[in-house]
Amino acid sequence: MDLRRKRLLELGCGPGHNAAHLATRYGAHVTGVDLVGLQVRRARSHYGRLNNLTFVAGHALHYLQASAERFDAIYSVFGAIGLVAPELLLPAIAQHLKPGCTLAFSVPHPQRGGRRPSTDDRPSRDYVTLHDRTRLPVARWEFDAERWEKHLGRAGLWLASAQEFHDARHGLWPTTLLITAHKL
Ligand SMILES: C[S@@+](CC[C@H](N)C(=O)[O-])C[C@H]1O[C@@H](n2cnc3c(N)ncnc32)[C@H](O)[C@@H]1O
Repeated sequence: MDLRRKRLLELGCGPGHNAAHLATRYGAHVTGVDLVGLQVRRARSHYGRLNNLTFVAGHALHYLQASAERFDAIYSVFGAIGLVAPELLLPAIAQHLKPGCTLAFSVPHPQRGGRRPSTDDRPSRDYVTLHDRTRLPVARWEFDAERWEKHLGRAGLWLASAQEFHDARHGLWPTTLLITAHKL
């Protein structure tokens, strides 16, 4: 896909490195949203001089609800997708994608370290590690590809691929699930 001048949205952009890569290397116009003000300040201080990059502080769902913009692609790299109720977030994402356009997201694999994926649509308790190494409890939706496909379909998105990635340092279990879907 030629990303020049395409409008992209990253949900949970953190310090903005992915967004900056897509803006500088591929000429895309990228908006990054992150819940944590400190992350957005870091992103702006690193990359604020680039005029095809915008960073916004806020909850991914609230940003989508407040915006009328349509994007050519929306993505999340271990970001908001998986940390916000999919039955709310996926339809909001679908509304902001142009027809035929792509949603791509990575999440920690539901079977990492020998865990079991959810057997229902509810989240389980997990932790995220902050910069100062404190661990913050979060709700995480730990779906396998089939359950993501079901939720994507309900939102008007068609699952195009689900790939698992392994890291030899973490034994035989997959560590990452990468999903791509298209707006119908
Ligand atoms: C593991 S970091 C990944 C950051 C970035 N995507 C990267 O790859 O460098 C997850 C980020 O998602 C953000 N996040 C979590 N829930 C969010 C939400 N509901 N809305 C927006 N951002 C969220 C966190 O603040 C954090 O910066």
